[in-house]
Amino acid sequence: DQSKQIAETLSEFRLTKEQLLEVKERMRIEIQNGLSKSTHDSATVKMLPTYVQSTPDGSENGDFLALDLGGTNFRVLLVKIRSGKRRTVEMHNKIYAIPLEVMQGTGEELFDHIVQCISDFLDYMGMKNTRLPLGFTFSFPCRQTSLDAGILVTWTKGFKATDCEGEDVVGLLRDAIKRREEFDLDVVAIVNDTVGTMMTCAYEEPTCEIGLIAGTGSNACYMEEMRNVEMIEGDEGKMCVNMEWGAFGDNGCLDDIRTEYDRAVDDFSLNPGKQRYEKMCSGMYLGEIVRNILIDLTKRGFLFRGQISETLKTRGIFETKFLSQIESDRLALLQVRSILQHLGLDSTCDDSIIVKEVCGTVSHRAAQLCGAGMAAVVDKIRENRGLDHLNITVGVDGTLYKLHPHFSGIMHQTVNELAPKCNVKFLLSEDGSGKGAALITAVGCRLRQELN
Ligand code: BG6
Ligand code: GLC
Repeated sequence: DQSKQIAETLSEFRLTKEQLLEVKERMRIEIQNGLSKSTHDSATVKMLPTYVQSTPDGSENGDFLALDLGGTNFRVLLVKIRSGKRRTVEMHNKIYAIPLEVMQGTGEELFDHIVQCISDFLDYMGMKNTRLPLGFTFSFPCRQTSLDAGILVTWTKGFKATDCEGEDVVGLLRDAIKRREEFDLDVVAIVNDTVGTMMTCAYEEPTCEIGLIAGTGSNACYMEEMRNVEMIEGDEGKMCVNMEWGAFGDNGCLDDIRTEYDRAVDDFSLNPGKQRYEKMCSGMYLGEIVRNILIDLTKRGFLFRGQISETLKTRGIFETKFLSQIESDRLALLQVRSILQHLGLDSTCDDSIIVKEVCGTVSHRAAQLCGAGMAAVVDKIRENRGLDHLNITVGVDGTLYKLHPHFSGIMHQTVNELAPKCNVKFLLSEDGSGKGAALITAVGCRLRQELN
C-alpha cells in the first residue's frame, strides 16, 4: 500500500508521448508569438535578436578578453585566435567567486566586483597596459539594440542585484571600469551563453546552428531567417535568436502538467511565477523539486521514519552533482546511503531506494521536457527551409548535461521521437561560451573597421 501511494505520487511526473507532443506544439506557438511583431511585446518566450548574423568561418583573428557571468562559475579569459590554414585558439582563464551577497546586493557592488576580478586577471597575465577588445558573456535575458548594447529584461536563476533591470548592461560595465580609473577596455559584444556555446561549437562544426544550455538554467538559441525576425528590419540572411525559453509556461500554458511540487518550488524561489519551464528542467531547481517530494513523503510517513530533519528543510541541499551521483548506475545502494548521510540525511536502505527513484523520476521528466522544446526548434528550422528532412547539429553546454548520467541520453531520444524528420546531432562544448564570445568579438571588431 505504501509503495502504491509513492508510485501514485510519482506518476504525476510521467508524461505520455501525447503530452510531450503537446508541449512541443505549445512551444511552437510561443516561438511564433515571440517572433511576430504584433505579439512580441507580450510574448513569454521572448525570442530576443542577438545581432549575430553568421557562424564563424575561420577568418576570425586577434587577441580578446572575455567575461563569462551567470553559470556556476564566473570566469575572466584571454582568448588568442589565429586565422589561416592552421587556425588555432589559445585560451587562458581564471575562475572567480561571486559571493551570494554580491549576487543579491546592489548593481554597483556587482559590477565593481566584476571589474576588480578583471583587474586581478590583467595583473596575473601582466597585461594592465593593453587595451583589448572584450566580449561579455552575460547569461540573462537582454533586449539588444546592437551587438554591444543590451538592456537586462529581468534577472533569472540566483541573481537579484538592484538597479540593473531595465539598464544597459554594457553601460553598467563601462561605468564600473571608469569608477576604478585603473585601466581601459573596449567592450565590443554582449553575448548570451547559448549563443557563445553555439559559436564555440560552430567553429569546429559548421552544421551547428543551435545552442543549448542545460545547466543552472535552461535556454536555447538558433539561427532564424531574417524575414521571420519581425522586430528587425531586413529580410536577407539569418540572425541568431536567444529564445529565453526558460520563461515558457509563464502565461499558464504548462499548468496542466505542473505538479504541486513544481508550484512549491516556484513559490519559494527568488522570482515566483517566472521561468516556469526552467524550474522544471534545469539544475538549479531539480534538487528542489526532489526535496519537496521527499518532505511530502516523509510527512506521510513513507520516509526517514516520518522525521523531517533540519537538513531536509534546507533549501538548495540537492545540487546537480549530488543528483548525478545518486542516479549513477555504478553506485551500490550503500553508496547512495552514504551520500545521503553526507548531506545529513539519516536513511535506511529502503529510504535510499525511494530517494533514488524520486531523483530518477524528476530528472527523467526534465530531460523529456527539454527534448520536447528542442524538437519544436529543429522542426521550425526544417520548415523554414522547406525540407522533408533536416540534418543539424546542436552545440550544448551545462553541468546538468555534462554531469548527469541519464539526462543527455533521454533528451536525445526524446528529440528523435518527437521530431522524426530531423537528424539531430549534439556536440558538447569543450571550451565554454567564452571562446564563442571572443569569436563574436572578432567579427564585431572587423565590421567596425570596415565601417570606418
Ligand atoms: C558554460 C558557460 O560553459 O556553460 C557558462 O561558459 C554557462 O557561461 C554554462 O552559463 C552553463 O552551465 P552551468 O551549469 O554552469 O550553468
Ligand atoms: C537563464 C537565463 C538565460 C540563460 C540560461 C542558461 O534561463 O535567463 O539567459 O541562457 O539561464 O544559463
